[in-house]
Amino acid sequence: MPTTPYVLGIDIGTGGVRVLLVNQDHGTIEHANTCEYASMAPRPGWSEQNPDDWWTACCKAINQLFSDLDLQPEQITAIGLSGQMHGLVALDEQDKVLRPAILWNDQRTSEQCDQIHQLLGLERTIAITGKPVMTGFTAPKILWMRRHEEDLHRRMKHILLPKDLLLLRLSGTYSTDASDASGTSLLDLKQRNWSDEILDKLEISSELLPPVAESQQVVATVSPSASELTGLRPGTPIVAGAGDQAAGGVGCGIEDGSIVSINLGTSGVVFAGRETPPHDPTGSLHGYCHAVRDAWHVMGVMLSAGGSLSWYRDTFEQDRTFDEIIRKASDAEPGCHGLRFLPYLTGERTPHAAPNARGSFTGISTSHDRKHFARSVLEGILFGLRDSLDLIRSEHGGIDHVRITGGGSRSQVWRQMAADIFNTPVATVNVTQGSAYGAALLAMTGSGQFSDARDAMKTFVRPKETIDPTKLADEYDTLHGEWRTLYGILEPTYTVK
Ligand code: XUL
Repeated sequence: MPTTPYVLGIDIGTGGVRVLLVNQDHGTIEHANTCEYASMAPRPGWSEQNPDDWWTACCKAINQLFSDLDLQPEQITAIGLSGQMHGLVALDEQDKVLRPAILWNDQRTSEQCDQIHQLLGLERTIAITGKPVMTGFTAPKILWMRRHEEDLHRRMKHILLPKDLLLLRLSGTYSTDASDASGTSLLDLKQRNWSDEILDKLEISSELLPPVAESQQVVATVSPSASELTGLRPGTPIVAGAGDQAAGGVGCGIEDGSIVSINLGTSGVVFAGRETPPHDPTGSLHGYCHAVRDAWHVMGVMLSAGGSLSWYRDTFEQDRTFDEIIRKASDAEPGCHGLRFLPYLTGERTPHAAPNARGSFTGISTSHDRKHFARSVLEGILFGLRDSLDLIRSEHGGIDHVRITGGGSRSQVWRQMAADIFNTPVATVNVTQGSAYGAALLAMTGSGQFSDARDAMKTFVRPKETIDPTKLADEYDTLHGEWRTLYGILEPTYTVK
């Protein structure tokens, strides 16, 4: 009978659920299963998913694991969860889902964000929660439901974040963690608990919200009914886990401010650890609780990073792979003869809090062909990420290197471009499953294998291949400065609601 001990890291992503089986002794990923589900956009700017689909997909992915491998339920010693942040999951008294979850990239709540800023004051909002309220965050969605779906709002008895719904279905327990909760605009960043002041002002009952734990804390165990559906051993401990970004920070070893991670997925996330609660009074750089005990993090989010490249391919180069597009783009010269791309296809969060911002190509001439367009997209995305990186650098001072993860990190050409545009060494890491792997490390910590998530990161996460900036970095410094001015010129045209 096999006896190797494992933990499970489960990540509820936007595209699907990822279940990782991680060897506890070596930190190696033994198996990964993904099960996809659909998103819905019932109106332009809306983005929803059915939470029951997450649970169905999760059960399927776990069952698949047991049928793929010679694995005994007893070998899984603990489970860690991570998930897409900010989503509003509304449940009734019987824990039934009342409406589709309103996701992190949903833009319907501009009016409610303004309302919250008026009620609390922008300064106070930033002081308590670490950032302004953004359209994708949870609190304005609650206000939106109160205004537009009065009946459902009245029937709502529990509010959960996406990964916390899985916890409930796995265990019957309501709980969240400080990192995910800090994306709701209802959490006091310093106290790492719900803010009474905000709940009072917004007239949201604290009874709707789950208790807030620390990410590595064991908060529940697998229930007998979930055991029947998943094949997991009843009583298997589950840690509170983390929002996908904080879990991703753990999964690529980001603890303090000296190393910054950049996740080049559909969205682009620039992430750095902090030892004290972050506070940027301008609200550009957003402060959150980290999944590591007594730590916080700052984050800049670009809403369409890899998403811009996917849009470019789907619109102009359907017959090419990403690799082919990137290879062709590398034949164009840096700066693309003045062709520039702004990647704000779905609005922007950092450094411009602008749900109505839009993408653009500017500076087109007859000398431009597809390779220039492709390169300008790659450069535009990295210029936008550099905006957030510069904010982090100006606040913290120098950084040692950037660790790059996500689909975009697979291309060596794009990584070199990143090292040049960021003017910083860019490294890949030895583990590539960011958030789900971070959740697994939190599970190891909760099961007592490590006393702190920092030790788990130090033991198992290392930089792999580092690329240094070339002499192009100086040219890109200048180009980035010019590129930045375009936002101010185009901003008055972003009027579409
Ligand atoms: C983070 C954010 C997204 C989601 C989806 O603030 O909105 O990264 O967590 O992954």
